[in-house]
Amino acid sequence: MSLWGGRFTEASNVKFKKFNNSLRIDYRLIQDDIKSSIAWSKILLDVEILTNQEQQLIEKTLCWILNKYINNVEKIVISDAEDIHSWIEKLLIDKIGSIGKKLYTGRSRNDQIATNLKLWCKRKSKIILKKIVKLQRIFLNQAYLHQNTIIPGYTHLQRAQPITFSYWCLAYIEMLERDRLRILHVIQNLNLSPLGCGAIAGTSWDINRKKLALLMDFSDCTKNALDSVSDRDFIIEILSAAAISMMHLSRFSEDLIFYNSGEANFIELSDSITSGSSLMPQKKNPDVLELIRGKCSGVYGSLFSILVLLKGLPLSYNKDFQEDKRYLFQGIDSWITCLDMSCIVLNNLKLNKLRSEKLAQEGYSNATELADYLVVKGLSFRDAHHIVGKIVVEAIRQNKYLEELDLLFFKKYCVTIEQDVYKYLTLKSCLKRKNAIGGVSPKQIKHSLDAVKKRLLHLS
Ligand code: ARG
Repeated sequence: MSLWGGRFTEASNVKFKKFNNSLRIDYRLIQDDIKSSIAWSKILLDVEILTNQEQQLIEKTLCWILNKYINNVEKIVISDAEDIHSWIEKLLIDKIGSIGKKLYTGRSRNDQIATNLKLWCKRKSKIILKKIVKLQRIFLNQAYLHQNTIIPGYTHLQRAQPITFSYWCLAYIEMLERDRLRILHVIQNLNLSPLGCGAIAGTSWDINRKKLALLMDFSDCTKNALDSVSDRDFIIEILSAAAISMMHLSRFSEDLIFYNSGEANFIELSDSITSGSSLMPQKKNPDVLELIRGKCSGVYGSLFSILVLLKGLPLSYNKDFQEDKRYLFQGIDSWITCLDMSCIVLNNLKLNKLRSEKLAQEGYSNATELADYLVVKGLSFRDAHHIVGKIVVEAIRQNKYLEELDLLFFKKYCVTIEQDVYKYLTLKSCLKRKNAIGGVSPKQIKHSLDAVKKRLLHLS
């Protein structure tokens, strides 16, 4: 029977019922629904709707339901209950009869679902925080190992200046740190409990909503019932955090796909995370990275879907909200999986140092260094840039690196160039001289590594 049987004389149309039901999606809120229901039972005790004994019986039965079904979700979804709230309600009443019915005093599924969703988001946010930190640790580990592994740094996908793999790892640690701070902010914004707001205008029972909030580990309660049952900002916020972080993981994937390509070819992914082609026996494809990059679009889709879902809705609750869970769950599941897969990728990759260093040496990525050298010798950077441009054209024609050109050749372009120019042109010098904060010099990298290590040490 549905929750609203009294008002209706006709049974639901079978197709409508199926269309209306959300249990197959929202069964995942079982833990959160039971947590908020137990808190609600404790508050009903305060206003003497429940006796001590009744409250205890309800709490015990709810815990029993949770234990029995949390790992048996297939048994939940075969039910024809409308949603997880009605499924739990029916089971509770089947078990303990009319005492169970009392739990539904003063509470609506509207404040219930808003509360449960916040609890779910909070739970997942904590898991995500841990996963971000784990990925940062793996990046840090690689960064320590590869302080001397020189790779080409690119702009416009053209070799620009040499960097180290360590430095590249540190860049992703920074991006992940912003993701971490964003999710912390999401948690902070989640911290107000909507429970006790009823359907739209509050509850008629004299309950202490602040106490109720604390019972569920919220820091306080929301301030306006009309807003509280309509508010899904927190879903937009968590999915925004997911979308930005997925963009980072997607760029990480793109970098590695390119580094792994036949053309760049200075990283190798282990067999355990690559796949072959059904036709071309020589192929070893970076599917895992392509999937992370591909799944990013699904997370954007979730964010856009929830934004569009909400934009035209009048206050307060509308059944459109039921769709929010589909997008929320898909987006967050995908983010979590991609964080896990990124850890696996990073733990399963090898660098070909000789090749990456050779690539860094080619492509005239020390040209800026030559221009800087001319500035040291008294030229303006614009003039130096122009002269070096001409030198590079000639070097390309002669098929030589800059450091292979002889001094007389250099002097044809600028008389102030001396023997000491060759010191400037080595890869080591290119790296060492970028020594302002945030630069690629070994000294700056060491400093960053130590700072990140120290920060991560304090995180669980
Ligand atoms: N399954 C519903 C949802 O997810 C629960 C709230 C139903 N409330 C209502 N007034 N019909 O949004």
